[in-house]
Order: sequence, then structure tokens, then C-alpha cells
Amino acid sequence: MTITIPDCIQSITPYKPGKPIEELARELGIHNAVKLASNENPLGPSPKALEAIASAVSNLHRYPDGAGHKLVTRLSDYWKMAPECFVPGNGSDDLIGMLTRALLQPGDEVIVPTPSFLMYEINVRSAGAVPVFVPLRSLAIHLDDLIERITSRTRMLFICNPNNPTGTVISRRNFEAFLQMLPPDIVVVVDEAYMEFVRDPDCVRSMTYAHCRTSPVVTLRTFSKAYGLAGLRIGYGVMNPELAGVIHRIRQPFNTSLLAQAGAVAALEDEDFLNQTVQTVHKGLDYLFKELSKANIRYFPTQSNFFLIDTKKNADTVFNAMLKLGVIVRSMTSYGYPEYIRVNTGLPKENERLIQALKQVL
Ligand SMILES: Cc1ncc(COP(=O)(O)O)c(C=O)c1O
Repeated sequence: MTITIPDCIQSITPYKPGKPIEELARELGIHNAVKLASNENPLGPSPKALEAIASAVSNLHRYPDGAGHKLVTRLSDYWKMAPECFVPGNGSDDLIGMLTRALLQPGDEVIVPTPSFLMYEINVRSAGAVPVFVPLRSLAIHLDDLIERITSRTRMLFICNPNNPTGTVISRRNFEAFLQMLPPDIVVVVDEAYMEFVRDPDCVRSMTYAHCRTSPVVTLRTFSKAYGLAGLRIGYGVMNPELAGVIHRIRQPFNTSLLAQAGAVAALEDEDFLNQTVQTVHKGLDYLFKELSKANIRYFPTQSNFFLIDTKKNADTVFNAMLKLGVIVRSMTSYGYPEYIRVNTGLPKENERLIQALKQVL
């Protein structure tokens, strides 16, 4: 190519998603594969969302309401916060992109715990900013370690809670102490994509800090996981209205589709489905942990719908061997754990397949 690619873009390693079931069918001719690699909802989409989407389809010749008024109103009722605090996005990925684009300048530093969700680094780099990586300790984000890395150039800080891929959480007490220590001009982005699955009562829910007077706290939530709408692409950010106003300046005019807005509004009201999902995940985890203990396979406890397994072998080799058995997991090699895989809970039958395959491969 003769065009010049900016250095910051050259430095990006593309995001590698979990392997789609269709790809496995194409490549290996395996047709009954089980995918436990992308932390998706095993029950499928919320039925109420499906109904709402079906009835919205006839309006597809119209542009959506760009600001997602109805969804924002429902979110405001649901969370008892002012509508001006909510910014819907094309998945929470979109929010990560908008926040980094709107708030960062080349050379700014952003603190990124590692390993964590890889899209933080990618978005920080594409804004020309500098990711400052802070390693986890014992698979957990330590807020004191983040504080130590703050400089006069730090503008933003990402916290994934529960953390993907380790499933660990931050306590309310530690989060509050951390906010007290932060300089007021740093935006704290707390990604709560998996918060619905958390069982630990001490885990912090960051939304209550959106109006925090010390530092701006932004919470990211998604309909992709607990509501089963990953393919629809809808999530949202919660932040103080001033910051939301800044994000709206650079938002694509129709960043969430008509169908996504309709589906999300209905999903939010589908409490039965949410409860059923959470129960399925918790039961699935309890089953998997019991079976793994029996089989003497080392795993790490989690507050999410996924967890890490120490294969004590090359994780890429294990990934490929599991693929051949029709079970798609995620190798953690690119996350810096060359012998770990990450799996999420599935339906009981899928969980059984996972255990059988793991026994065979390990
Ligand atoms: C921690 C975390 N944040 C955000 C996302 C992206 O979610 P969405 O589908 O809402 O873009 C994911 C998806 O896997 C995730 O694991």
C-alpha cells in the first residue's frame, strides 16, 4: 500500500472474537458444535424482545429516533436516574469508542489493567493515546496499583467489573477509597457487561457514583449478555449529564437501530427471562465446578458467566483439540495466559459436552 497508516493504528492487533459455530461447520464439517467462547446467553434472546422486534420490523423504512428517547426514558425509570445520564450505543463497544474519541488527545495516557477486555487498548490506541498497562495480581484488578501509575498525562482509567477474562470483582469499600485518592480530572470507566451474574454482595455497582463530585464515573452496561441480545448490538453508558452531552456531540446520528431500541425496551421489562438466565448460569457454574473438581482439573472461581481453566498444557493446542470434538472455547494465549482457556456456562447438555471434551483432551 502506498498510503501512510498512522503509527497509532499500525500498533493495533486486531480483535479476535470467539470462533462462530458456522465457521467450524465450514472448516471442519462439524455440525453439532457447542460454543462456549463468547460469554453469550445459552437460553437465546429474551422472548419479549423478539416480539417487540417483530412488530417494529414494518417501520424499517424510517430512521430510528437518534437519541433513543423511549429506551432512555425506560432506563431512567428502571435505574431511577435522570434521562440525561443515559447514552445508548451500538453495543457497549460503541460507548468505549465514543468515550475514547471524545475525551482523548494524542499522547494522553489511559490506565488499562491487563489482562482485561481487549477493546479498551484498541480504542485507546486508535485515539492516538497511550495505554498504560497495569498487570492484575492473583487474577484481580488492584485499585492501589492503578493509582500508582497515574501521571499528569492520565486522562482515563478502565475497570472491568467483573473482569473479563478472570471473573474477579471490586468491592464497594475499595472502590470508594479509590475514588477519594483520584485526581478530579480523570474519567473512570467501569464496564459492567456481566454485573447481572454477580453473587458477591460486596461487589460495587458503579452507577450510584455517576454524580460523584470527585471524579466522573461512567458505567457501561449491555443487553448482549444477560438479556441475550448480542447479535442485535445494543448497550448504554451512564454518566453525569455534562459528560453525556460531550458524547452526544460525536455520536453517529443513528448509532442504535430501530430494532435494537425496540428489543432493548422490551428486554428491560422481561424480568422473568433475566431471572431465568441468571439461575441457569449459576446452576451451570455449580455443576461445572463440581465436575471439574471431581476430575481434578484446576479452575478459578468467578462472579460472571465465564471462568478460567488451567489446562497445564498449551492453551492453543487444547483449543484446537476441543474444536475437533465440537466444543468451542477461548484460548487465553493472547491475554497472556498461555496455559489457560476461558469457557462460559451453557445449557445443561452443553455443559456436559464441555466436561466430556475436557476429560478427553486433558
Ligand atoms: C467486558 C466486556 N465489555 C464489553 C463487551 C462488549 O459488549 P457489547 O456486545 O455490548 O458491545 C464485552 C463483550 O464480550 C465484554 O466482555
